[in-house]
Amino acid sequence: MPTENRTAELHLPRRVIGGRGAALFLADLCAGQGWRRVFVVSDAGVEGAGLLGRVRAPLEAAGLLAGWSTAVPAEPPLDAVDALAARIVASGADALVGLGGGSVMDATKVAAVVAAHGGAAADLVGIGRAGRRGLPTVLVPTTAGTGSEATRVAILTDTHQGTKLGVVDPVLLPDVAVVDAALTDSLPALVTAAAGMDALVHAIEAFTARVATPLARGLALESARGIGGALERVCSHPDDTAARDTMAWAAHLAGMAFSNSSCCAVHALALPLGGRCHLPHGVITGTFVGAMVRFNGPVAAADHALLATALGWGPLDPPAFAQRLDQLAESIGLTAVLRATVVPAGVLPALAREAVSQSPARVGGGCGGDLRVGSRAGAVTAGPGPDPRAWPIPG
Ligand SMILES: NC(=O)c1ccc[n+]([C@@H]2O[C@H](COP(=O)([O-])OP(=O)(O)OC[C@H]3O[C@@H](n4cnc5c(N)ncnc54)[C@H](O)[C@@H]3O)[C@@H](O)[C@H]2O)c1
Ligand SMILES: [Fe+2]
Repeated sequence: MPTENRTAELHLPRRVIGGRGAALFLADLCAGQGWRRVFVVSDAGVEGAGLLGRVRAPLEAAGLLAGWSTAVPAEPPLDAVDALAARIVASGADALVGLGGGSVMDATKVAAVVAAHGGAAADLVGIGRAGRRGLPTVLVPTTAGTGSEATRVAILTDTHQGTKLGVVDPVLLPDVAVVDAALTDSLPALVTAAAGMDALVHAIEAFTARVATPLARGLALESARGIGGALERVCSHPDDTAARDTMAWAAHLAGMAFSNSSCCAVHALALPLGGRCHLPHGVITGTFVGAMVRFNGPVAAADHALLATALGWGPLDPPAFAQRLDQLAESIGLTAVLRATVVPAGVLPALAREAVSQSPARVGGGCGGDLRVGSRAGAVTAGPGPDPRAWPIPG
């Protein structure tokens, strides 16, 4: 447990509805909220899997559909979000449904604010820059990973600088999060593995962050318990709906956890690489996490043992925990994807510099200058603790 007695706040979605099939009732949900013109944000992959039609048709039948877009690229660039906001304004929408993975939900969260108040997505990068809630949102994840439907974070890509940026503000939290694991049944194998591993990294970092509160640590541990039982299973048996259900809830809890704690060095290292190489985010975080556990091990052994136990692996010491995480990334195919990626050697110093300089101004989180940034290890070995206004490092 964190030893400092500091105040704690919990920021959560206003309402969470979950369970297999819950998304089928979106039209009733929107009507019940008093919304009359609903715009659905999605992407081509989600449409191709037949999920957009499932949500759009009942909205259309109820006369509630203001429009839709599938023009959200993965790891959405700032200008794609601005274009989305313009389409939403033109549609006269009074509410948004974001149906997709983290990319779609993040674009929806920021576009909701830009559409309501003007300006551009770039103006909102950092901590608390949004300030006012945007159009009401319902966020409906179709991947089991980011937990974006439960976080006050959105990650966008600055294609000019080649890096990823965070918008962090509680106003991004949705009016309603709908966690329907049936939407994840069609996930491709690599997305299942990468997104699921990212959820595990969220849980590990939220649990060990030096700003972690008892509330966030409880959510993180329960998330790890679910992931331990379900991630490998869902990768080897994609038709196991019970494992899909467990992953959907676990990813949601991990989002709640890190959004009320922080992501740490794994994400500080992952974001600059993700901005340059168009790899799935979870491929990077999932393959980096073992090294970070090794690095933080000397001062985080008790936490690592608790996490390993929650995962069902027994109370492992940090080297054994790190090795098990490496094996997991390897066995579900993430390591091979990173190995096959060419990162020019000349870029490495810049990646390292950007990782250690993660700051609120650049990514909307972080607390400066040490690779143990945001980790409890940093509390022991580095200088002053983080400015609480500066967390979280985005997921
Ligand atoms: N806001 C947050 O709190 C937070 C946290 C972690 C990560 N992120 C960000 O989220 C993004 C990654 O999100 P992601 O991992 O969910 O992937 P994603 O949203 O980028 O989707 C990956 C691919 O899977 C497809 N897809 C999604 N659901 C599908 C389904 N059910 N069936 C078939 N195809 C489907 C999409 O069309 C896309 O091609 C990154 O930009 C990352 O930085 C945000
Ligand atoms: Fe993440």
